[in-house]
Amino acid sequence: MTTISETQSNSAKHIAVIPGDGAGVDVTAEAVKVLKAAAAASGLTIELEQFDWSADRYLRDGTTLPAGAARMLVERFDAILFGALGDPRVRDNRHAAEILLGLRFQLDLYVNARPCQLLDARLTPLRNRSERDLDFVIFRENTEGLYVNIGGVFKRDTPDEVAVQEQINTRKGVERILRHGFEYARRHKRSRLCMSDKANALPHGHGLWQRVFAELRPQFPEIEASHLYVDALAAEMVRDPSQFQVIVAPNLLGDILSDLGAQLVGGMGVAPSGNIHPGRIGLFEPVHGSAPKIAGKNLANPIGSVLSAAMMLDEIGKPAEAAAIREAVRVSVREGKTTTDLGGSMGTREVGDWLADYVTGHAVTRT
Ligand code: NAI
Ligand code: MG
Repeated sequence: MTTISETQSNSAKHIAVIPGDGAGVDVTAEAVKVLKAAAAASGLTIELEQFDWSADRYLRDGTTLPAGAARMLVERFDAILFGALGDPRVRDNRHAAEILLGLRFQLDLYVNARPCQLLDARLTPLRNRSERDLDFVIFRENTEGLYVNIGGVFKRDTPDEVAVQEQINTRKGVERILRHGFEYARRHKRSRLCMSDKANALPHGHGLWQRVFAELRPQFPEIEASHLYVDALAAEMVRDPSQFQVIVAPNLLGDILSDLGAQLVGGMGVAPSGNIHPGRIGLFEPVHGSAPKIAGKNLANPIGSVLSAAMMLDEIGKPAEAAAIREAVRVSVREGKTTTDLGGSMGTREVGDWLADYVTGHAVTRT
């Protein structure tokens, strides 16, 4: 007997694909390849539609994020797979800000989830660290902080020039990201959560983080909640990363910490991320940017994008397909079937082909 919920969970998933610029285009093509293979292997129907919002499009006709785009995405898609934006021809990066920040703000994607998981011990630059020592997730607040573009410049280009860039921290915004971190820890049986800020220097903005944190902690008594100022946290992440399981931080600090975390587990090429509003459409993208120096040369590592597609599958209720993709990535790294940044000799496309073949070939053992 087929129940309604089964019918719904087996129905087609609609994915919007925004490859963007440079290496974003290279890696997204491979993530799509692997995604299609995983779906085919499990009998899941995935319908993909590509959008050309990019520097090329902006330079051609001035379009950044078309009017009504956010609403259209919400109405027609389950999730968004995103590459990267940034092009040396667009000096002020206007298209990137309007498209990516536009989507983050308009879709209210307040959680930026950045898992830092070591796939193979040889990938970490740290000495004597195993896969078990490096497995944490950073939740970066994604809609407030210093990214709200409030400020201005006074007496521009004079010796008396003043530049002001404000940050905002709202009780609602701080509460929901901290709560998300705690609830994630609870759901995933993680016993430790570390909140990080710079409240010693920013007593107003980050003082609010401290107060909200203190209010929430008692609601999650089983989770050992700690606090580190961001400078101390950066040092501790390098000295002993095994102490961390869930880290929650304001927007800019989380951005910086997650690049550090990415390096600890193998570099920019392997780090995935999700821009999420639980229960709503999310946007999944590798942590890296458009890497203009290696773009279009079949050099970019597609793993960050492929793992972002796996995060996307988890988020839309397809954990088996997500697990199959992660397993393929783990084996590829272990066997050295990688791009040159990880010491392999394969190209972007060859890694994508290898992962897709692996997922296809191992479909039977999963069912
Ligand atoms: P980037 O992440 O593009 O590159 C940093 C370094 O990592 C470079 O050495 C690059 O070659 C390497 N790298 C990046 N992706 C890689 C991959 N898949 N495989 C192997 N190596 C990889 O950051 P960068 O250079 O600061 O910025 C380049 C452009 O990307 C800028 O326009 C920037 O604004 C934009 N950007 C966009 C982001 C996004 O769309 N979410 C995020 C970060 C930067
Ligand atoms: Mg960054």
